[in-house]
Amino acid sequence: MRKIALYFFVFLYFYFPAHSQHGARKNFDEGWKFRLDSVNNYSATTVSDGDWRSLDLPHDWSIEGRFSKDHPATYNGGALPGGIGWYRKTFTLPAADADKQVYISFDGIYCNSEVWINGNYLGKRAHGYVSFQYDLTPWLHADGKPNTIAVKVSNNLQPNSRWYSGSGIYRHVWLTTLNKSSIKHWGTFAISRNITKNNSDLQIETKVQNAGSARQKLVLLTTVYDQQHNKVASENKEITALPGVAMPVVQTMKITNPHLWSVNDPYLYTVESVLQSSEGRELDKYQTTHGIRYFNMDKDKGFSLNGEHLKIRGVCNHHDLGALGTAVNTRAIERQLELLKAMGCNAIRTSHNPPAPELLDLCDKMGFIVMNETFDMWRHSKTNYDYSLYWDEEHQRDIRDHILRDRNHPSVIFWSIGNEIIEQWGDSTGMNMALELSGIVRALDSTRIVVSGNNEAGPYNNLIRSGMSDVVGYNYNTARWLSFHQDWPGKKLIITESTSALETRGHYDKIPFDTVRRWPLRWDLPLVDGNADNTVSAYDHVSAPWGSTHEESLKLMENNEHVSGMFVWTGFDYLGEPTPYTWPSRSSYFGIIDLAGFPKDVYYLYQSVWTDKPVLHVYPHWNWKRGDTLDVVAYYNQADEVELFLNGKSLGKQRKEKDNMHVKWRVPYTSGTVKAISRKAGKVVLTKEIKTAGAPAALQLLADRNTIAADGKDLSYITVKLVDKKGVLIPDANQLVKFSVTGPGFIAGVDNGDPVSHEPFKADQHKLMAGMGLVILQSTGKPGLIRLSASIPGLPETSIEIEVR
Ligand code: GAL
Repeated sequence: MRKIALYFFVFLYFYFPAHSQHGARKNFDEGWKFRLDSVNNYSATTVSDGDWRSLDLPHDWSIEGRFSKDHPATYNGGALPGGIGWYRKTFTLPAADADKQVYISFDGIYCNSEVWINGNYLGKRAHGYVSFQYDLTPWLHADGKPNTIAVKVSNNLQPNSRWYSGSGIYRHVWLTTLNKSSIKHWGTFAISRNITKNNSDLQIETKVQNAGSARQKLVLLTTVYDQQHNKVASENKEITALPGVAMPVVQTMKITNPHLWSVNDPYLYTVESVLQSSEGRELDKYQTTHGIRYFNMDKDKGFSLNGEHLKIRGVCNHHDLGALGTAVNTRAIERQLELLKAMGCNAIRTSHNPPAPELLDLCDKMGFIVMNETFDMWRHSKTNYDYSLYWDEEHQRDIRDHILRDRNHPSVIFWSIGNEIIEQWGDSTGMNMALELSGIVRALDSTRIVVSGNNEAGPYNNLIRSGMSDVVGYNYNTARWLSFHQDWPGKKLIITESTSALETRGHYDKIPFDTVRRWPLRWDLPLVDGNADNTVSAYDHVSAPWGSTHEESLKLMENNEHVSGMFVWTGFDYLGEPTPYTWPSRSSYFGIIDLAGFPKDVYYLYQSVWTDKPVLHVYPHWNWKRGDTLDVVAYYNQADEVELFLNGKSLGKQRKEKDNMHVKWRVPYTSGTVKAISRKAGKVVLTKEIKTAGAPAALQLLADRNTIAADGKDLSYITVKLVDKKGVLIPDANQLVKFSVTGPGFIAGVDNGDPVSHEPFKADQHKLMAGMGLVILQSTGKPGLIRLSASIPGLPETSIEIEVR
C-alpha cells in the first residue's frame, strides 16, 4: 500500500510541470566557477578560471559571510557582506544543435547582473528579483568548441535594500534549445471564463515564433489534461508563421464539469501545446499549468472564491530561507508553506518583489492565494543605492517580464504594483505612475485584481485617488479600517500588510500579559526602554508603533465583513530589519515563526482561530523564581472553556469573553506542573502540561522527515532539544552543541532563531536558544544513511539516522 502511494506521489510530482515551460528546457545549475573580485573584469573567453571555486547554483555568497556592523548593507540588510562576484561556466554543444536557437534563462540574480557569451555582452538587469532570458544563438559554437558564459553580479553599492537581499545567482538557471519555429518564452496564456458547474470556456493564446528566414506552415495542437492525465479537450490549428515575429494564436475550448481550483482543493489541469511542421514533425512542446477558478471582491462582503465567501488569511514573507540564505531550495520553501498551511494561513504576499517560480508552483499545488508584488519603490528611493536609480530605464520591462512569467499561476489573484511607494505623497507624479503601471499589468492580464500596499490612507494618497483600482490595499492603519467606506466610498478593502508585532521565541517579560507596548513609541523616535539583551517578550504584547498586537488586528479583520482579509507582517522572521533594535541584532522579530522555523506562541493563536483542528496551547514555560507572578495564557478552540491546575490544584475555569481570543490566569509561581484542560459540554477535548525542567540530561534530535530523496537537493530539518531526565525542555538552555555527519549528506545550515546571534549559519556547531536549535541536512545525491551526531560537554552523544533514497 505504501509503495502504491509512493508511486502515485512520484507520478503526480513529476507529471505536473513546474510553471509554464518548454519540454526542451534543461537545468543549467551545475558546474559553475565563482570568484569574488571587485577590481578585475573576467568577461573574456581567455580568462583562466581553473583555480576559481567550483560550485553548483543556486548560490548566495552573502550567507557564507560573517556578521559585522561594518558591512554597508547595515543591520537592516542583515549585516552580511555584499561585493562583486563573477560566475563562469564553460560548456559544449552537440553538432546537431548547429541550426538551433539556444537561450539562457535566469530565474533571479541579486543584483545588477551583466552577462557575456564567448566575450560578447548580452545585457544588464538591475532588478534583483525578475526572471529574464538571453538569446545565445548568434555567438555560439556548436562544433565541439567550448562556449563560455560569464556573469558579473554587482551587489557592492549598498544599502540598496531594506531587508537581507542575498548576493549572487541565487535562483535556478536554464538552457533551452529550440528549433527555428517554436513557442516563445512565457509564450502561453490560458484563461477560463464563464465558469459554471457543468462548463467552462478555456481560451489559450500561444505565441509562435519563427526565427528562420522564410514563412512556415505549421500546426499548433493544444491539449488539456486533467490531474489524472485524462485528455479533457483539444484543438488543432493550422498557421503560417512569418519570419522574425512572434504571432499570437488564439484557441478556445470547452471543459465540461470543470474541477475548480481552490485553497482546500487545489486542482490543476495541464495545457500541452505541441507545434508541428506541416508534415507532422514535432518542433516544440510546451506545458502550462492551469487552474479553473473565479473570484470576486464585494465592498461589503469581502472576497469570494468560486462563489463562496473566503477570508484572506495571509502572511507577508521575504525571500530568505533562514540559515540557507536566499539560495532557492524547493523543499525549504515547501516546509515554510507546510507550517503556514497547518496554521490555517491561506494566502501569501510576496513582499516586496517577484518570488522564486518554485514558490508559485507550490502555492498552485498546495492551495494558497498569492499577492504577487513587483516593486518596493518607484522613482523615489528608500535606500541610497536601490532600484530607483534604474527606474526610468528598467521599470517597464521588469513589470512586463514579471506579469508574463507569472500570469498562468492559478494561485496568483492579486498583482501588487508597489509597497509603501513614496509617490503616495507629494506632487501628483504618483497618479500617472500608478496608471501607467496598472495599465501595463492589465494589458497583459486583465483577469487579476491590481492593488498597491498603502501606508497612507488619507484622501491625498496619489495612488488611491488615481483610480488605478477599485480595490484599496492598506498597510496598517487599523484605526481607519472601520471608516473605510466613508473615506473611500464605493471601494473595496484588503489589508495588504498588518500587525508588525514583535517577539523573541521563548522569552517572556514578567509584566502583565495585557500591558501592550509600542516599541519604539513613535516611528521616528529611538527605542529607549528595550531589553538589555535585545529580546522582545513573546507574550503578544509588543508591536511597532505603526502596527498592532497579533490579536488586535486579527479581531478587527475577523469581525468585520468588509475587510476582505489581511497579510500579517510576517509569517517567518527574516534576515535584516531587526526593529525595534539595531546592531547587534541582525534579523527580524516580526515573524509568527522564527528564523529557524520554530513557531512562536502566537502561531497557535492563529491556528485556534483559522482552523477547526482542536488547539490548546498554554504558555509561558515553568522555570521561574520563587516569588515571581506570571500570566499563564491559553489559546484554544473547539471547546467552551479551559481549566488550569497548578500541581493538581484548580486555578479556575476561563472562557473567552467578548471578542477575546485568549484566556489567562495570574499565577504566583511555585515549581511543578501547570496543567490545562479544555472541555466542550463538560467533555475533555485536550490536555496540556508544562513542567518545571530539572538539570540538563540529554539532547534530543527530531527530524521533520526521516527519509529524503537522493537528488542532492532534498533536506531534512532536525530540531535539537536539550531536555532534563524526564524529557522536559530546558527553557533557558543556550549551550553550544557540536555536530558531525557521516554518510551521503552534509550540513546545509545551522540556526536557533536568535536575532542577535553572530554565529555563522554554515558551520558544524551552534548554540541553542530557549532550549532549541536546528540543523539542516542536505543530501549529496547518493542513496544511503546519513547519521547526524550532536554533543555538548558532560552529556552522552546523541544521533539520528536519515535514509536517503
Ligand atoms: C512596513 C513595510 C515592510 C516592513 C514593515 C516593518 O511599513 O512595508 O517592508 O518594513 O513595515 O514593520
